[in-house]
Amino acid sequence: MNLKKEFINFFVSHGHVEIPSAPLIPENDPTVLFNTAGMQPLIPYLLGEPHPKGKRLCDAQKCVRLTDLDGIGDKTHHTFFEMLGNWSLGDYFKKESIGYSFEFLTKVLNIPIERLAVTVFAGNEDIPRDEVSAEIWKSLGIPEERIAYLGVEDNFWIAGDSGPCGGDTEIFYFRSDEEIPVKFDPKDERWVEIWNNVFMEFYKNEDGKITELTQKNVDTGMGLERVVAVLENVDDNYKTSIWKEIIASIESVSGKSYVGNEESMRIIADHIRTSVFISADPAGIKPSNTDQGYILRRLIRRAIRHAKKLGIDTHDDWMRPIALEVIKKYERDYAEIKENKEVVLEVLKSENEKFNKTLEKGLKEFDKLLKSVTGDTIDKDHAFKLYDTYGFPIELTEEMAREHGLKVDTEGFHDKFRQHQELSRTASKGKFKGGLMGHSEIETKYHTATHLLNAALKVVVGSYVHQKGSNINEERMRFDFSCDHKLSDEEKRKVEALVNEWIKEDLPVTMEVMSKEDAIQSGAEAMFIEKYADIVNVYQIGDVSKEICGGPHVEHTGVLGHFKITKEEASSAGVRRIKAVLE
Ligand code: SER
Repeated sequence: MNLKKEFINFFVSHGHVEIPSAPLIPENDPTVLFNTAGMQPLIPYLLGEPHPKGKRLCDAQKCVRLTDLDGIGDKTHHTFFEMLGNWSLGDYFKKESIGYSFEFLTKVLNIPIERLAVTVFAGNEDIPRDEVSAEIWKSLGIPEERIAYLGVEDNFWIAGDSGPCGGDTEIFYFRSDEEIPVKFDPKDERWVEIWNNVFMEFYKNEDGKITELTQKNVDTGMGLERVVAVLENVDDNYKTSIWKEIIASIESVSGKSYVGNEESMRIIADHIRTSVFISADPAGIKPSNTDQGYILRRLIRRAIRHAKKLGIDTHDDWMRPIALEVIKKYERDYAEIKENKEVVLEVLKSENEKFNKTLEKGLKEFDKLLKSVTGDTIDKDHAFKLYDTYGFPIELTEEMAREHGLKVDTEGFHDKFRQHQELSRTASKGKFKGGLMGHSEIETKYHTATHLLNAALKVVVGSYVHQKGSNINEERMRFDFSCDHKLSDEEKRKVEALVNEWIKEDLPVTMEVMSKEDAIQSGAEAMFIEKYADIVNVYQIGDVSKEICGGPHVEHTGVLGHFKITKEEASSAGVRRIKAVLE
């Protein structure tokens, strides 16, 4: 059975309109990194704005939740998941909502009523106990002993700290072959929550004050992977049909079996799937050190570390076959996965290459550290070195420390991290002034544009692209690079679009002075490594480019104007030449 289809068909047959999943990265809400629930893109409509598709909606929404990131590796948690949901925007309320859920579970999914139990809101000083929902459940045949009343922590739902909210009733399924206890105990882990019906009739403001909404809404959410596990009668979500081919491809890449290697395989499977969805999203997220880009980087790097644990040779593009399985699984339902397939594969490949440059040395450094550490904590300096020199996200260091019963001085790390950022900002300010001498403003701009072009070619054409030369004058820039084919119009258009996007993002350009070795280890691009002095300048543009370079550069990409490719031609065998202007 295809649960997603059955769910949508059922609610459509009850007068709901199916809406497409909103992007994973919220379009109009900078306060959250990802959509974490089906209701999130619907907030304006829950607050009263009329929805163009009407008052009854249903969908499968792509979600990412990071609260459990450290817990991934067990049987039931995922960072990415699809949430099935139905909504009433000021239309039906408790009776119909509970009735629909009950009908879908018992008539469509054929779940025996004996395996179901529910919780309802016990009420607090502001809101009364939800006897209405309890009575509805009883009228449908759920016995009193299978109804538990719980407080605000369990049965009151809100996304974040403020917004539309309300009491909820949660539906549980008894997932075990053991005898079903007569009385429902929500703490008994054999009962798993499968569906949450929220009765959104309140609004909580930033001060915590609760007022009634103008309309009474219903917002429900059902975790797809969890219910599929129930229907397929397995007690490990990763053993369902959803993960079958993905886990099989990890088994094939590693030459190991899932049994005995569950934790690392689950982490790899989960993190690659989430990375595919994040990097395919229209927002165009790339691995970086901030916001969604940092989450993407953390997920990929953690997957790489677990691949190493399984004995996979991470120097290969080992993620590709696994990512291809993920893409195959989802490309029919999500057009962006199909459209951005190449971008996704390239993101994984190039982040893998970047981390591989330093991973091994970093792991050695960590082992050395284990031998020398006194007490139970890894100090801030070592944690920072692992981050700065070897590219280990702090959370990865924490995870590795935990595996050895150690802690990390994370607070100290963050202090050091901030100090370091201040320093490099100051250093870059002073240096820019000096470097600018002898170059006109437009030439300086072309220098920076060259770095962006180099980075864009790597994304669009392939990470194998390397700079072979460049030449700048007041009129144009010229850039030679290794590439085995004439760029297609589409490739040129994509490269231009990417450079212009980075210009529009007004990315900061920073400079750091470091040893040549550190620069290479930190993943900086270098054209002729043997030609550089021992101490080099490394220019970083936002998180899109890092290159050893003499400069000069602008301080922010926003000043570059509009980038346009005027010519693309052969330069010599295996080398192409691009001429471009800033207008
Ligand atoms: N918003 C609720 C949840 O995420 C129901 O969809 O559980």
